[in-house]
Amino acid sequence: MSVLDIDFVRAQFPAFAEPSLEGQAFFENAGGSYTCRHVIDRLTRFYTQRKVQPYAPYEASRLGGEEMDEARARLAALMGVATDELSFGPSTTQNTYVLAQAFRKFMKPGEAIVVTNQDHEANTGPWRRLAEEGIEIREWQLDPQTGHLDVAHLETLLDEKVRLVCFPHCSNVVGEINPVAEITAMAHAAGAFVCVDGVSYAPHGLPNVDELGADIYLFSSYKTYGPHQGVMVIRRALGGLLPNQAHYFNAGDLYKRFTPAGPDHAQVAASAGMADYFEALAAHHGHSGTAAETGAFVHDLMRAHEVKLLQPLLDAVKDRNDVRLLGPAQAETRAPTVALALNRAAEPVAAQLAEFGIMTSGGDFYAVRALEAMGIDPAEGVLRISFTHYTSEAEVAKLIEALDRVL
Ligand SMILES: Cc1ncc(COP(=O)(O)O)c(C=O)c1O
Repeated sequence: MSVLDIDFVRAQFPAFAEPSLEGQAFFENAGGSYTCRHVIDRLTRFYTQRKVQPYAPYEASRLGGEEMDEARARLAALMGVATDELSFGPSTTQNTYVLAQAFRKFMKPGEAIVVTNQDHEANTGPWRRLAEEGIEIREWQLDPQTGHLDVAHLETLLDEKVRLVCFPHCSNVVGEINPVAEITAMAHAAGAFVCVDGVSYAPHGLPNVDELGADIYLFSSYKTYGPHQGVMVIRRALGGLLPNQAHYFNAGDLYKRFTPAGPDHAQVAASAGMADYFEALAAHHGHSGTAAETGAFVHDLMRAHEVKLLQPLLDAVKDRNDVRLLGPAQAETRAPTVALALNRAAEPVAAQLAEFGIMTSGGDFYAVRALEAMGIDPAEGVLRISFTHYTSEAEVAKLIEALDRVL
């Protein structure tokens, strides 16, 4: 297994060479990541050379349209799905909102949806609103101590009435990686579809959605080194069943059915830069193979680096009396998104950390239900420390030292 070349990685992100950010260690990646140069270059090129209505037969327009198609094709291939199964919306929250409108018509009163109280509000609130149509909402509840979602509990919520199970690949405050393939298999066996919020997971390696078996998989490209978009995979079998949410004459195009607004041309086109980056990363580390193999290679490369850096941070906070670590203390089982409850307001602590050149944030991170279920006052919030594969060992050491000063 290759070891991540961190110098190469950081050279792909202009933020690391930006004088105004020098000396600042970035630990709020779960809020939004730095952008790789490939995306920035494509965005600049689009705005300077192709800022016209795409898909017309003149050169600038043809190229713009081709780049938008390229983004869908290459990201879909990295994730093991067909090109028209991947689409872009303004954000994950808007994507779930549109999907919920489709399920509103698709489902009948008396049928049920399973939601969790571990999710960010984006993948739970829109679904809960379907109670207005007489749809039963069943809550898969996290363990109030650990934040863990127990699949044995899900088993008791599933029966023939359930049409959809919504859950996160990993919560943006608990951080534990949920067993998506296992949960999906259980839901499918009960005759239900699944909608997986991958927003907190995808920055740590794009998953192979075909292998996971998920019917819907969502992530936000602005947290995954790209522009501000919501990326949505909807498998064909489900996408064809759900009622079209776009203009009636676009119903035949799967990738248009659940994105009723006109797309943000430049940002969709620039998203191909995420694929450029992942492929460049794989090539630099000596890998070659199919797109899906490249996706898997990059995923494992990133994860290994993150797990190595994460364990010392978890070790530094897990036994402190003044800190409650949410989620597991073993790096292998979680993403490097570490929320700490401090028994006091978290934001002033983030402000103190900023004085030591550590960028973090405090708050509820729209995971209000999860915090409340764990007995944490959302108004106090949690201090959230989140990093990715581009974070260095030295930055984690600096963070641990700063935490020691301010906690
Ligand atoms: C886990 C999770 N899901 C969903 C969202 C919402 O994503 P978006 O900002 O694209 O609507 C966020 C954003 O913070 C998130 O962290």
